[in-house]
Amino acid sequence: MTQHLATTDRPADAPADAARRAGWWRDAVIYQVYPRSFADANGDGMGDLPGIRSRLPYLRDLGVDAVWLSPFYASPQADAGYDVADYRAVDPMFGTLADADHLVADAHGLGLRIIVDLVPNHSSDRHEWFQRALREGPASPLRERYHFRPGQGAGGDEPPNDWESVFGGPAWTRTENPDGTPGDWYLHLFAPEQPDFNWEHPAVREEFHAVLRFWLDRGVDGFRIDVAHGLVKAAGLPDLGTHDPLKLLGTGATPCFDQDGVHEIYREWRKILDEYPGERIGVAEAWTPTARRTANYVRPDELHQAFNFQYLASSWQAGALRQVIDESLEAMRPVGAPTTWVLSNHDVTRHATRFANEPGLGTQIRTAGDRELGLRRARAASLLMLALPGSAYVYQGEELGLPDVTDLPDEVRQDPSYFRAEGQDGFRDGCRVPIPWSGTEAPYGFGPAAGGPSWLPQPAEWAHLSVEAQTGDPASTLELYRAALAYRRAHPALGGADNLTWLDAGEGVLSFERSTDDGRTLRCTANITDRPVTVPTPGELALASEPLTQDGDHTVLPADTTAWWTTG
Ligand code: NOJ
Repeated sequence: MTQHLATTDRPADAPADAARRAGWWRDAVIYQVYPRSFADANGDGMGDLPGIRSRLPYLRDLGVDAVWLSPFYASPQADAGYDVADYRAVDPMFGTLADADHLVADAHGLGLRIIVDLVPNHSSDRHEWFQRALREGPASPLRERYHFRPGQGAGGDEPPNDWESVFGGPAWTRTENPDGTPGDWYLHLFAPEQPDFNWEHPAVREEFHAVLRFWLDRGVDGFRIDVAHGLVKAAGLPDLGTHDPLKLLGTGATPCFDQDGVHEIYREWRKILDEYPGERIGVAEAWTPTARRTANYVRPDELHQAFNFQYLASSWQAGALRQVIDESLEAMRPVGAPTTWVLSNHDVTRHATRFANEPGLGTQIRTAGDRELGLRRARAASLLMLALPGSAYVYQGEELGLPDVTDLPDEVRQDPSYFRAEGQDGFRDGCRVPIPWSGTEAPYGFGPAAGGPSWLPQPAEWAHLSVEAQTGDPASTLELYRAALAYRRAHPALGGADNLTWLDAGEGVLSFERSTDDGRTLRCTANITDRPVTVPTPGELALASEPLTQDGDHTVLPADTTAWWTTG
């Protein structure tokens, strides 16, 4: 007998009710919208806020709790909006401030929360402060708000220290004095168009307090904090002793990241967040060497959540996954913060493509690999993730099983690090291609007109992966996500409780149960091997990432498949 997959029943608990729950963020599913690529209302080929607004009912029906929007602020787009020129303005390519207000209001009306991105480590080089700092010359007090330094060597021709930027190339750029002579250098851990702020300067701290309040006053429910571990640098900006580019997910301490002084900043921010009703949250994008160091960002008087990049970086291997799950849960226990889980975002190759390739290639992959295998593993990985205790992040399009687009022509690429040798990133355009909604002709409902533009081209086969094509098909990835999210809401053993018990299921198989005090249990078993395994059927099948077969009182779990059963 073949047992199948997804049910499309709506959960008992509607999103509007869930959003009002105290501690909503402890088990929230947070959906990342990348505004450039989600929905384009005005047909210019670039996603925008009115487009996102028009698709909010889709997100409500998908069953997520909150939406995180990557930056939509005024920006020259040197790094796709992570170079902010005005923290209080919406870039005209995305809409207006009124559009942002309408988006927040509509989301709240649907029971969805809105988390906005905040980029405090650096501004754009077009930010008014930086422009004045350049214009006014070496004596400008505005220079103290960034890291300006004289160069080393004869004539100051060498950068002030040996740091290399994350995107490759020196982390310093030399300025020209107003009289045309070569001047001081400024620090940028990312692109030259992204000068780092000096967080020792009180004006920087005050400005960001005001920016937090500006968006909190407009009703946003929280902030995803970009490069949260980078704001404070080691005193004196000491040499690293190497010319390797900075690695975000390094294994050791560096003077550029994760300095203890950064936590004071988040203690101040937490006080501001707590002044507002409704549990507004802060989420740290903090790439630290260990889950224990990450836990420092979510101590009770700091931020609420931090991304779990160790989990994202794990290969599809049972031992590695088991280890990272255990370490993540253990690390968060002493601070009482929820563990978070994430498989994809706008900076890494989508997990359907990572798992289509051999393990160990990292998170920037250039080859499509075995697509069918990748999708199968991605489905299994998602179902595993959504059964874990804590909060989960879903990146737009992963619910459609989208792969990375690995064959984009050079002339359409926009990732700044693609054009700089050696940097850690560079292949991020592949996960940023506009998502398909409907129809058989590009842009597949991303924009209003068939045959209309999209800022990155979509592959022809994406017609079959659109929301429209998958809706109602119980074997589709979209219906698998819908069903899994509905289950998460409805089943009392899932969610935020720290109630995971591992079961012994043999080599290459991960199996755990989550139970309520009154004995209601959800069992999740993931076969991470390349052959079927037979397990005793533990209860009633809730969901499976592939069809299962029943053999008496046993279930055959095919290769690379996850299933959930309920008991009690
Ligand atoms: C992390 C963001 O996610 C990434 O897209 C950006 O390039 C860097 N921070 C720099 O802001």
